Amino acid sequence: MTILITGGTGKTGLKLAHLLNKAGHPILLTSRKGEVSHPFKGVKFDWLDPSTFDNPFDVDPAIDRVYIVGPVGILDMLPHVKPFIDLAVTKGVKRFVVLGASPIPKGGPVAGKIHEYLEEICVDYAVLRPTWFMENFSISPVATNSIRLHNEIGSVAKDGRLAFVSVDDIAKAASDALLDEKSWNSDRYILGPELLSYGEVAALLSKVLGRKITHKRLTQDESLSIWTSVGGLSIGLAKGLIKMEAEIADGAEVAVFENDNKILGKTHLREFFESNRELWVI
Ligand SMILES: NC(=O)c1ccc[n+]([C@@H]2O[C@H](COP(=O)([O-])OP(=O)(O)OC[C@H]3O[C@@H](n4cnc5c(N)ncnc54)[C@H](OP(=O)(O)O)[C@@H]3O)[C@@H](O)[C@H]2O)c1
Repeated sequence: MTILITGGTGKTGLKLAHLLNKAGHPILLTSRKGEVSHPFKGVKFDWLDPSTFDNPFDVDPAIDRVYIVGPVGILDMLPHVKPFIDLAVTKGVKRFVVLGASPIPKGGPVAGKIHEYLEEICVDYAVLRPTWFMENFSISPVATNSIRLHNEIGSVAKDGRLAFVSVDDIAKAASDALLDEKSWNSDRYILGPELLSYGEVAALLSKVLGRKITHKRLTQDESLSIWTSVGGLSIGLAKGLIKMEAEIADGAEVAVFENDNKILGKTHLREFFESNRELWVI
């Protein structure tokens, strides 16, 4: 039986592919171009083009589980993802594991309505709700430019704390959700092992890099301008992101960390900074 990994060229999809492949599970990865990293098998697939939805099943009719990373940059993914879920169920898919986000509940924007729909159709599913990725510091041009050019990490989160999580730990949770004998049929927060404020993050990075990095407290207008220019986000998405970051200041992610319905990853932010040190060296 084969596991289909959508977003197979993305941060969590590719790590998940390595984990499942190492454990000997047959997998198929999607990308819009149909090209994926060696040694994996890829198929052309686009959430915005339903004519590609049959492709994975044409390539491998044995697909029975699907990891869903919905279309990036879309405020409500369900209208694009629902027709594929419906098709997949008719093709014999038995379980869906969806990448959501800690601030987004069932029925909310982005992947929130996918969660609601899977529950409604009584299919086996899990929704991963990771908090903010450690990889935002290494991949997002917003963070890397700011650290390299200005020795700053900008945010509207003030002194709010959150448990940054690594993509490795999210991929491990995704693998468990796909393979556990008993389907979770619920969501779970996926968090890093420790709560840190952006000031503490800046202090950690300063130690690792041997130069002073500070937390720049941005106003929401300043943040909007950065996300829409350097970050390339639409105004709607940037405003949504800034609203979630501002909620960190009010303790939203501390409440998530204190919730029992969570999986704590192993990777500490300090290890992540040490392993990627050269990215921020000037
Ligand atoms: N970054 C965070 O801190 C954070 C925190 C919590 C949750 N999340 C969630 O993580 C999810 C993934 O975001 P990310 O930035 O990490 O992206 P990513 O997974 O690194 O990359 C996006 C993936 O989706 C594929 N993709 C994009 N548009 C597509 C489309 N129209 N049809 C099919 N495939 C498409 C891309 O593949 P191709 O380009 O090869 O087609 C790529 O593999 C988002 O839903 C976000 O809400 C992020």
